[in-house]
Amino acid sequence: MSRKIFLTFLAVISAVNSQSNPCNASSTTVETQADLDILSVCSILTGDLILGTNLVTADINGIRTIQGDLVAANAFDLQRITAPDLAHIGGDFNLTSLTILSHVNIDSLDYAAGLHWRNLPSLTRLEPFYSKLTHSSRFSITDTGLQSFYGPNFTTAENVQFRNNKNLLGIVVNFHNTSGSLAFIDNPLAFIRLPELVLVKNATFRSNSGMELPKLTTVTGSVEFSGNGFETLIIPKLQTIGAGDDPDTEETFSGNLTIVDNKNATTIKMLQLTEIFGNLQFVGNSVENVDGFPLLLDVHGSIDARGNFSKITFPSMRDIRGDFNIQTNAEFDCSDDVDRLAGGIVKGGYFCKGATSRGGSKPTPVGAVVGGTVGGLLVIAAVAGFLFYRRRKVKSRKAGLAGVTVGNSNQLGGIEIVKTPKKAYNVVGGVDAANGAGGIKT
Ligand SMILES: *[C@@H]1O[C@H](CO)[C@@H](O)[C@H](O)[C@H]1NC(C)=O
Ligand SMILES: *[C@@H]1O[C@H](CO)[C@@H](O)[C@H](O)[C@H]1NC(C)=O
Ligand SMILES: *[C@@H]1O[C@H](CO)[C@@H](O)[C@H](O)[C@H]1NC(C)=O
Ligand SMILES: *[C@@H]1O[C@H](CO)[C@@H](O)[C@H](O)[C@H]1NC(C)=O
Ligand SMILES: *[C@@H]1O[C@H](CO)[C@@H](O)[C@H](O)[C@H]1NC(C)=O
Ligand SMILES: *[C@@H]1O[C@H](CO)[C@@H](O)[C@H](O)[C@H]1NC(C)=O
Ligand SMILES: *[C@@H]1O[C@H](CO)[C@@H](O)[C@H](O)[C@H]1NC(C)=O
Ligand SMILES: *[C@@H]1O[C@H](CO)[C@@H](O)[C@H](O)[C@H]1NC(C)=O
Repeated sequence: MSRKIFLTFLAVISAVNSQSNPCNASSTTVETQADLDILSVCSILTGDLILGTNLVTADINGIRTIQGDLVAANAFDLQRITAPDLAHIGGDFNLTSLTILSHVNIDSLDYAAGLHWRNLPSLTRLEPFYSKLTHSSRFSITDTGLQSFYGPNFTTAENVQFRNNKNLLGIVVNFHNTSGSLAFIDNPLAFIRLPELVLVKNATFRSNSGMELPKLTTVTGSVEFSGNGFETLIIPKLQTIGAGDDPDTEETFSGNLTIVDNKNATTIKMLQLTEIFGNLQFVGNSVENVDGFPLLLDVHGSIDARGNFSKITFPSMRDIRGDFNIQTNAEFDCSDDVDRLAGGIVKGGYFCKGATSRGGSKPTPVGAVVGGTVGGLLVIAAVAGFLFYRRRKVKSRKAGLAGVTVGNSNQLGGIEIVKTPKKAYNVVGGVDAANGAGGIKT
């Protein structure tokens, strides 16, 4: 045997070995439980594991690490996935359109680079695998039958989404900081608790039941609350919105605060909010007295306030760099405001329109405001009727502030702490307040 032939022979042996080593395939598709059992000798699977469309159960034993993806799609007979030893998925863990899948138990999972579950209508309950899941860069739970989702304790989580989970009553996720985006969209029954979240880039809360963000301090991008069912939203610690991640670019970045069409909302308060680098949009909520921003000093963009409120107050406001637009269907005295806005507080246009009120208000747009100072107070108060209007005028004159109704110690010093109403907790069903902040329950 020549040297050349010998070498070729060795190469063939090694190629055969590599191919037949089940742990080392770049991708393995399993169609039966027996196929999976063969893989149970592999503590590390270097490639992808694909659960085929003929599987009825998938009990993945022995495998601790899948370096590629773990995926299952359109396996319409698949009822169960268990993987008690699996701790690490280097790629995506995707479950898509598994219509009768009702049981997923992956108790040891600590890391999955991505986790995307979509269209799992029969998955109503989860074993708490995610209590150990601390890292997942991309995470989405969409169109599932899940009723609750308590956990995980993410230390790294970017781009987390919960969408269109119609049965979901409670979501608790122990995020800390995330430089990514959170989106909770169309989970109409869900009360969302993010008890540890301090800093987030973007956050969208659209069409959920309610939310609780007790530690949220900074939103570097934009935050939206729209179409939610809550009556009360209190964010006690939020200070700045929209400054960007990079302090050097903060002048060019401008995240917005959007609070729109929360039709049942009668109380919305952000008690420590001082600065919004973009716009404040407060439209279509049921708040009667818009007074939930007692410390708001600067809005670098515009304020757009539209609804049925009869009073709107920003007692600490110093600077609105864009427009200030007020439109309300309630009786509202616009004429009263011009003087008090005349401090250069509003750098853009000031527009105000209320329903016609007795008492001689002028419910017409008022142009750009220029003039003297009003001591940092910006207050627009509406009158409910002639008598009240007159009485207020008299009182104001006495106070020497021409009708400023706030700014006294009661309002400025006494930050109101209002408990989340009972109703919000009832909606959750499973979460009890005592167990709340760190609690992971199923
Ligand atoms: C598995 O594949 C890698 C390359 O991906 C190779 O270096 C290694 O030798 C293979 N291991 C076995 C047991 O075949
Ligand atoms: C997993 O799902 C996400 C979202 O649909 C998709 O972007 C990603 O490519 C999927 N990964 C795999 C391996 O299919
Ligand atoms: C979260 O962000 C805040 C504000 O930037 C920072 O003070 C805190 O240390 C961060 N916490 C973690 C766990 O990264
Ligand atoms: C944050 O939201 C804004 C507006 O909705 C969007 O343009 C931007 O891409 C989002 N950023 C991330 C990281 O998702
Ligand atoms: C507002 O409250 C009513 C009555 O409690 C309820 O039926 C409705 O679903 C709520 N709206 C939203 C958007 O949750
Ligand atoms: C804030 O809203 C304005 C006006 O809708 C928009 O042009 C801008 O892109 C928004 N900013 C961010 C960061 O989304
Ligand atoms: C405001 O009042 C109008 C009628 O005056 C009503 O159609 C609308 O639903 C109300 N909006 C809210 C948010 O309550
Ligand atoms: C999750 O974090 C909370 C507090 O941040 C802690 O109380 C709880 O024990 C943690 N759960 C797990 C499973 O690590």
